[in-house]
Formats: sequence, structure tokens, C-alpha cells
Amino acid sequence: MRLSTLTTFLAFLAAHADGQIYTGPRDPRIETALTLDVPTNGVSTTPDGRLFLVLARVDGSKGAQVVEYNTTSKTMTPYPNEEWNSYSEGKDPATHLVRINSQRVGPDGKLYLVDVGSPAFGEPVILPLGPKLVQVDPNTNEVSRIYHMGNSTFSNSLLDDVRFNPKTGLAYLTDAGEPGLIVLDLASGISRRVLNTDVSTQGATPVSAEGTYLLSASGGFQYVYADQLEVSPDAKWFYFQPANGGMSRLETKWLDQAYYNSSLAGEQLAGYVEPFALTPSTGGTAIDAHGNIYVSDTDSQRIITVAPNGTKTVLVQDPRLLWIDAMWIAGTKLWMPAAQLNRGTPFGNGKSNVTKPLYAFTIDIGVGPSPIDHA
Ligand SMILES: *[C@@H]1O[C@H](CO)[C@@H](O)[C@H](O)[C@H]1NC(C)=O
Ligand SMILES: *[C@@H]1O[C@H](CO)[C@@H](O)[C@H](O)[C@H]1NC(C)=O
Ligand SMILES: *[C@@H]1O[C@H](CO)[C@@H](O)[C@H](O)[C@H]1NC(C)=O
Ligand SMILES: *[C@@H]1O[C@H](CO)[C@@H](O)[C@H](O)[C@H]1NC(C)=O
Ligand SMILES: *[C@@H]1O[C@H](CO)[C@@H](O)[C@H](O)[C@H]1NC(C)=O
Repeated sequence: MRLSTLTTFLAFLAAHADGQIYTGPRDPRIETALTLDVPTNGVSTTPDGRLFLVLARVDGSKGAQVVEYNTTSKTMTPYPNEEWNSYSEGKDPATHLVRINSQRVGPDGKLYLVDVGSPAFGEPVILPLGPKLVQVDPNTNEVSRIYHMGNSTFSNSLLDDVRFNPKTGLAYLTDAGEPGLIVLDLASGISRRVLNTDVSTQGATPVSAEGTYLLSASGGFQYVYADQLEVSPDAKWFYFQPANGGMSRLETKWLDQAYYNSSLAGEQLAGYVEPFALTPSTGGTAIDAHGNIYVSDTDSQRIITVAPNGTKTVLVQDPRLLWIDAMWIAGTKLWMPAAQLNRGTPFGNGKSNVTKPLYAFTIDIGVGPSPIDHA
């Protein structure tokens, strides 16, 4: 495509968000699991029933970013403790949670916190010690390891989310600020970037929600690059996409080879990337034991199931599913935290239009999580 044609095409797309707000009835299969006064953009659980939340603070509230939620007393406790959650300018960015974008319990039972390392959305990353993957041991409630990611991030990086390949000991992370993927060896702690600014890690359109493209604080369209990612239950496939959708897949063996041989990490690796599913603007994903990927459509308040052969079906659509962010499967329930991120301060010129209370919903999907994702 000639550059002028491409520019015209992108301008057209940018002017025509095609999402339709859903105003239909509620779906009675949805259960309210949590009622909160602050938005959560991620839920994870341990097999013995502990529950951890990441709090996006896009409503302008202050306080802990990662909490353990006590379902009996309905109270939140800063996790792993108050001090880790007390970051402010002047404190050590290496040993405090600067800004947590996501959290999840890994296949090893540890809780992993993905720290962007920048004090606020759109602000530069504090290099080299801000961006990190923090591993917490739920048995001791202590930080058990810190993976510093400063060598594979840039000042405009947005370290977004993480998945694991227990068969090779590598972890995969997305960079939504500077398009690319990061592969991390959990044993050595050494990380490397791959697919930098590849078409598969970039977003062709801004992120859209409730039928409107998101605007950044500076008034421009908000692009969010490589964001959602999943590993298939047999560890063969790695799935990934920018937040505006368009999911690609790549065999993990190529990704892993590119980690060990950096001459493969660019064009050669890109040659193995396949388009997988035309997904919409997405808040979060989860993968089940059969390899079905659940994708939350931020425009139309629905969850789409993408089967391993790429076919899509609608699992559920409900007006309450407002920007479902990182999803999670526990037992046979799909957790859907309705974060209302698009209504938050980063996209409202500093003003929050979040409607309270906020909810995390569940729906029974009749199948458990991918066993290599978490127990
Ligand atoms: C949760 O809260 C209840 C009631 O306050 C308390 O008895 C229980 O020990 C708490 N559980 C945990 C894991 O802290
Ligand atoms: C970052 O790179 C430097 C120089 O190559 C190296 O000494 C250091 O160990 C690296 N740090 C991490 C956390 O990978
Ligand atoms: C790395 O990949 C390049 C390109 O395919 C290849 O020529 C080279 O032999 C590989 N190096 C190693 C150490 O495998
Ligand atoms: C793809 O998978 C779905 C779900 O398992 C199945 O219903 C459908 O028939 C499959 N389609 C093709 C073309 O194989
Ligand atoms: C705020 O959210 C409400 C829905 O709760 C919507 O009707 C309204 O247009 C939003 N206002 C702005 C400024 O986005």
C-alpha cells in the first residue's frame, strides 16, 4: 500500500469507531462476585481460595494498588504489605510498586505483579529500576524475587502483562507503550525484546470503548500496542494482540529460539507470525483448558470466545460488562472485572466518569483454566 493511501485509510478508521454500545437486557447467567467502591482491572485466585486484586485507581482514588480481598469481611489488605504499596517520589522504585498494570498467580503458585515503572499513565518510565516483574510467595507473603526489566524497556514503554511457558521456563511480556514483546528467562532473570514495532505488536487504530475512540491526556487518539497474550494449554502456540484487536499467533518454539539467538528476533521471527482472529478493541483475555480464548469487547459489552481453530462465538453480552479487563478462570467460573477504564482519569482529561459501585462478575463456562496457566 502506498504511504498516502495508508495514511488516508488510517485517518478513515480513526474517524469511524464502529463499536455499538449494547443497551439490551441483562443476562441472568451473570453473577455479581464483588461489589467495590474502586475499579479493579484484574483478579486472581489461589487453589486454596485466596483472592488478589489490582486496583487501577483510574477513578482518582489513592491507596494500595495490589490488595488481598477477604471475601468474609469484604475488606482489602495491601499486598504483599503496606510498604511495597507506598511508592511516592523519592522512594526507591526498585523496591516499591510504582504502577502495577496487571497481576496473576502463575503456574508455580507465585503471585506476579507487572510494574510499568512509571508514576502515572502516559508518564515516562523510571529507568532502569522502575519496570519490573515482582514475584510474591503467597505462603510467606514476602517478595521472593524481583525481575528488573529496565534492560528491555524504553522510557515510553508500558510493561503490560505476562504469561508463562512452564515447559521452557520462559515468561512472555507485552509492551503496550513501545510496540514489542519481551521474553524473560525466569531462572537467569535476563530478558530480551522481540518483534519490535512489528505490525503484529502495533495497533492500526486507537482503542475504542462504548463506541468512542479513547483520547489521551494530550487530546490525541490513544493507541495501546501489544497488550493481551495467552499460551495454549499444550504450550505450542503463543497468542497476542494490540488492545485495539487483531489477534496473531506464533509457535512458542520460534519465540524461544529468538530469545536465545537475537539475530532471529526481528524480521525472521515476524515471518512466523500468523493472523489468528479479527478481535475487537479488548480489555482482557483468559484461556481455558480446551484452549478457547475469552476476549472482552470494550465497545459492545460482550465476551467473545475464540476457539483454537479461530472461529468466534459470543459467550455473553450484558450492559454491565463495562470494560472487562484482565479475566481469570477459577474452578469453572470466568471472572470478569468491570473496570470502566475508558471512563477513568487518563482518558477524561484528568476527570473520572466512573459509575460507582464497581463490580467483578462471574459466569460459569463449564471448563477450568489451562493447567499450564495456573492451578
Ligand atoms: C477474613 O475475615 C474474617 C472476618 O473478619 C476473619 O475471621 C478471617 O481470619 C479473615 N481471613 C483471612 C485470610 O485473613
Ligand atoms: C542489564 O544489562 C547490563 C549490561 O549488559 C548487565 O550487566 C545487567 O546484569 C543487566 N541487568 C538485568 C536485570 O538483566
Ligand atoms: C542464529 O540465527 C542465524 C539466522 O538464522 C543463524 O545464521 C545462526 O547460525 C544462529 N546462531 C546460532 C548460535 O544458532
Ligand atoms: C471450529 O471449532 C468450533 C468449536 O470447537 C467448532 O464448533 C467448529 O465446527 C470448528 N470449525 C471448523 C471449520 O473446524
Ligand atoms: C459519563 O458516563 C455516562 C454513563 O454513565 C455517559 O452517559 C456520559 O456521556 C459520560 N460522560 C462523559 C463526559 O463521557
